[in-house]
Amino acid sequence: MKVLVLLGLAALACLASSQCNCKTMKWATCDGTPCSCFLLTGTDNFKQSLNCQKLIPKCFLMQAEMNRARKGEDTRTIGGKPVESAFVDNDGIYDPVCERDGKFKAKQCNNTEECWCVNSAGVRRTDKGDKNTINCTELEKFAPKVGSQTLNMTNIKIYYVDEKPPTFTMKNLSGGIIAVIVVVVLAVVIGLLALVRTHQH
Ligand SMILES: *[C@@H]1O[C@H](CO)[C@@H](O)[C@H](O)[C@H]1NC(C)=O
Ligand SMILES: *[C@@H]1O[C@H](CO)[C@@H](O)[C@H](O)[C@H]1NC(C)=O
Ligand SMILES: *[C@@H]1O[C@H](CO)[C@@H](O)[C@H](O)[C@H]1NC(C)=O
Repeated sequence: MKVLVLLGLAALACLASSQCNCKTMKWATCDGTPCSCFLLTGTDNFKQSLNCQKLIPKCFLMQAEMNRARKGEDTRTIGGKPVESAFVDNDGIYDPVCERDGKFKAKQCNNTEECWCVNSAGVRRTDKGDKNTINCTELEKFAPKVGSQTLNMTNIKIYYVDEKPPTFTMKNLSGGIIAVIVVVVLAVVIGLLALVRTHQH
């Protein structure tokens, strides 16, 4: 009888530990109750903790992949074989610097002295340059003001592509981006006009 109980307990323990894994990230290491998961990132093997209920931010994925590549562990594969063509970004993969929430920092250097600015998907949007001369402006929060008072909005819809135009040497994109900015500005102006009108009545 005792043996049976022990076996039962062992089975339960097995079940519990097998349930502690990360559904959204196969490279994660998971442990403990409650179950928590992390990825090893950076050159210093920083333990980046993960929320496995959500998709893992791309910035963390790239960090983990570079960390594994440095240790000679397998990285992205198709049918068990590593493929270079799995990398879709023009420059290939680099070791990114992430915000705590998994967003890409605006400036990326791949652990070198040569840096560049990226968009929100971590894709390069400027030419590369020296660490000290490249300045990347962070995204600003959209908070229109009237006088010194910040407007309270009940409902706001903004459609944008990527409000930071690339500064590659190709000019034909800027027309489209200006059009997007104009549309957003127009939408805001129309919104403000409507606000003023409703206040007058
Ligand atoms: C980043 O650095 C690694 C080696 O440290 C290199 O293999 C990779 O190509 C670099 N990526 C970019 C985009 O420069
Ligand atoms: C970038 O910022 C640094 C200080 O933060 C400044 O010294 C430098 O002149 C800036 N470079 C450019 C190209 O604006
Ligand atoms: C806007 O909202 C904040 C809190 O959400 C409130 O403190 C403030 O008084 C509001 N301002 C106006 C003009 O309604």
